[in-house]
Amino acid sequence: MSCPCCSPRNINDLDNTFDAAQARQDARRYLKKGLDKRARKLIAYLLAHCGKPVSVLDIGCGAGGAHQELLRRGIADRAVGVDASSAYLEAAKANAARLNLSDRVVYEHQDFALTAASFAPAEVVLMDRVICCYPYLAELLGAAAQHAQGYLCLSFPRDEWWTRLPYRLYDLFQALFRSKYRFYLHPYPQIMALAEAAGLRLVHTDRTGLWQILVFARSR
Ligand SMILES: C[S@@+](CC[C@H](N)C(=O)[O-])C[C@H]1O[C@@H](n2cnc3c(N)ncnc32)[C@H](O)[C@@H]1O
Repeated sequence: MSCPCCSPRNINDLDNTFDAAQARQDARRYLKKGLDKRARKLIAYLLAHCGKPVSVLDIGCGAGGAHQELLRRGIADRAVGVDASSAYLEAAKANAARLNLSDRVVYEHQDFALTAASFAPAEVVLMDRVICCYPYLAELLGAAAQHAQGYLCLSFPRDEWWTRLPYRLYDLFQALFRSKYRFYLHPYPQIMALAEAAGLRLVHTDRTGLWQILVFARSR
């Protein structure tokens, strides 16, 4: 696999893996049923603690439900959604238009780890199920943490003995079917160290099923 500074885009085949069918399904589900349990837990701390409307940078935003929910509830007044999947961004844009949010959100088709310098910092940075899709944790999470002026909200797979087997099996199937996409179970201490090195401290943890949720705040 090529390194982030040499390869322009599509590391881990993200643009093909997160395709139009998946994007349409996620977008429809949000319109019909709202956020799923993990995403509700990811933003719960913000709902309780953000006094005035904030700016949001949703990295690996997918179909956009997390930042769109914050905009709809008045927790956010503007948002940027960035994703390496063009299909997901199309779905997010279409949902934003349906929800009358288009004037408050901008979408960027980019690999954030490669283009972080072109993004402005935001009060809230969201990364919901993103770091497990990307091999270069330091480049992605390090840059994301630097962009968080107030809070960084992360969800990622729990690294427990009973979660490792399904993820390994998933990767095995990916290899068998000649898919280039791989799943990454990044070590918890490394995640903590990267956030803390960027000046953030852990203020909230939660979990649901296979997912760990961490919220960091910038020390003022
Ligand atoms: C499992 S999906 C999650 C989407 C959404 N956050 C959600 O929870 O519904 C992971 C998304 O992260 C995106 N992603 C992963 N690494 C990325 C990177 N370095 N830059 C931009 N997007 C990235 C993928 O393209 C994919 O759309």
